[in-house]
Amino acid sequence: MENSALEKNYKRFLVTSALPYANGPIHIGHLAGVYVPADIYVRFLRMNDEDVVFIGGSDEHGVPITIKAMQENVAPQEIVDRYHTIIKKSFEEFGISFDIYSRTSNKIHHQTASEFFRKMYDAGQFVEKVTFQYYDEATSHFLADRYITGTCPFCNYEKAYGDQCEKCGTSLNATDLINPTSVLSGNAPVMKETRHWFLPLEQYESWLKEWILVDHKDDWKTNVYGQCKSWLDQGLQPRAVTRDLDWGVNVPVEGADGKVLYVWFDAPIGYISATKELTNDWEKYWKDKETKLVHFIGKDNIVFHCIIFPAMLKGEGTFILPDNVPANEFLNLEGDKISTSRNWAVWLHEYLKDFPEKQDVLRYVLTSGAPETKDNDFTWKDFQSKNNNELVAILGNFINRTLVLTEKFFGGVVPLQGELTSLDKETLDSMQHFPGRIAASIHHYRFREALAETMNLARLGNKYLTENEPWKLFPTDPERVGTILNISLQICAQLSIVAEPFLPFSTEKIRQMLNLPFMKWKDAANLDWLGAGHRLNPAALLFGKIEDQQIEAQVQKLHDTKKVNESKTVQHTPMKAAIEYDDFAKTDIRVGTILEVEKVAKTNKLLKLKIDTGIDVRTVVSGIAEYFEPADIIGRKVCILVNLATKNLKGIESQGMILMAENPDGKLFFVNADEGAINGSTVK
Ligand code: 2FM
Ligand code: ZN
Repeated sequence: MENSALEKNYKRFLVTSALPYANGPIHIGHLAGVYVPADIYVRFLRMNDEDVVFIGGSDEHGVPITIKAMQENVAPQEIVDRYHTIIKKSFEEFGISFDIYSRTSNKIHHQTASEFFRKMYDAGQFVEKVTFQYYDEATSHFLADRYITGTCPFCNYEKAYGDQCEKCGTSLNATDLINPTSVLSGNAPVMKETRHWFLPLEQYESWLKEWILVDHKDDWKTNVYGQCKSWLDQGLQPRAVTRDLDWGVNVPVEGADGKVLYVWFDAPIGYISATKELTNDWEKYWKDKETKLVHFIGKDNIVFHCIIFPAMLKGEGTFILPDNVPANEFLNLEGDKISTSRNWAVWLHEYLKDFPEKQDVLRYVLTSGAPETKDNDFTWKDFQSKNNNELVAILGNFINRTLVLTEKFFGGVVPLQGELTSLDKETLDSMQHFPGRIAASIHHYRFREALAETMNLARLGNKYLTENEPWKLFPTDPERVGTILNISLQICAQLSIVAEPFLPFSTEKIRQMLNLPFMKWKDAANLDWLGAGHRLNPAALLFGKIEDQQIEAQVQKLHDTKKVNESKTVQHTPMKAAIEYDDFAKTDIRVGTILEVEKVAKTNKLLKLKIDTGIDVRTVVSGIAEYFEPADIIGRKVCILVNLATKNLKGIESQGMILMAENPDGKLFFVNADEGAINGSTVK
């Protein structure tokens, strides 16, 4: 079997998965891109008795977290505590089998990151530079790009962030913004000098070129290799590894008060701190060349894991480098980019409320459509069809038919395997090849292919049953039926082993029904797990059909999100200058009812309304004719400003003004009082 770990004589595996930011819950994009593939890989290694540690944890530093804290007016620690708990729970619920799920606000991490920096600093591996940065004088803070808003120079959107315009999607620098404003004080920021430490990446360039472009030309994924090559071809620049911020790992240097390590400097060191937290024997995983280090990440993390972190590890000098970085592309949702800030996501904790105990269905759909080589789209229709047409109709159906038939004909006891036909022999022979093929795909990080092959084993089982039709043979040839069911049961047992990395909840159920223990990967080639006379447990359904209404409800939820988002991106008229209550108190607004309506001759816009204001009945001329038919609005409740000076419009004296809400596109809507408010009630 092709196996780079074996070829290179690796003794153990260190598998890391990107540490998600603890500024929101996790969604299907996280699972598909990073955690499900990493979990499949690790479960497979464990079944092969490999020495493996699987590292995860929350990334609790960085500006998005401090911004969220500021918006909610709480301390950043409160934000990360909240989301770390939610994220950790979601991972547990979906069976992501970390050996440790740690967090970067832990003391051990601060120590580890600090020592790492200090060692490089002492060895003179950073370059100190003075730069200019936006500064908020009112709050005495340097401003990260996210802390500045202003007008986008490309689309004129007035609320663009210093790093990106959310309206047109352009990446920006804070200095690009027109009329920059500090999010902290609302004031215009000033430019101020600040001192920072830079990692001179250009000094690592030729080494990185050799290590990536030559040594890993053949074993890194094309998307990963391609992104690295493009960075290296452009030439590397010094990169600041410190920031002016009060949340993060303090820079362990005299006179660096108010400065912390850049989040992308400390976060990957989090993998090391978590391993330390897990075991005293952590150095064998990080410092012995016989360890195979694999980083599972999403494509936006490639440069950090393939260029910056390796340069840090090389600079520090005592750590191993990754053997592979199998980054995935992005998963979209119903044709649109998944986004935490726009709430365009399927959140894991919400999924489980709507689809309880269907973790494996999501694991299956996300693996079979994983964005391994290009971005892919998750749609609810596809989710339903993969559940109903593949999990239910192929895998579930095969296991269920086999068990039910064995119950019916043999009282749930494994029948004897008698004389074999050529089809039996062919089937047993095909079975031999599945474990090796699935393993090879997993070793090459091709999890879609591995899962497809696993399903082919279930297809083989279905085909075998269908071609043999044991249900028809029982009255005449029960022995033959015994052989057919014995072989079908062996396929079920093999499935319970090879599907384990992908569908751990379902394989546990299969093992329970077959009354088998958890087995190792090497056992997958045995083909005789179930001897005649072995007693099975009663059959239970593995997967249930997902109905149209369930899917429609999910799609509706997304439509609602879209509507909310659209209303947020419209440009509203700016707020007017502040007034005193007395200014407002001068107005006299009443609830009234429209009694009569007619168009004002020779105009398109005006309607003449007769209104019962509770205090009198009066005439009002209103510019709403383009939006309402007279007949439709007779009897409507309205709010009317009754003490407005009268005005002559087209020869009619208008004695007040109806209050209308105007959308940004100019469309008008009545302002209603709730039911129960009688004519003449005052609006205050
Ligand atoms: O992109 C992200 O969500 C980062 N928090 C990933 C960090 S990975 C590692 F370096 F910790
Ligand atoms: Zn823009």
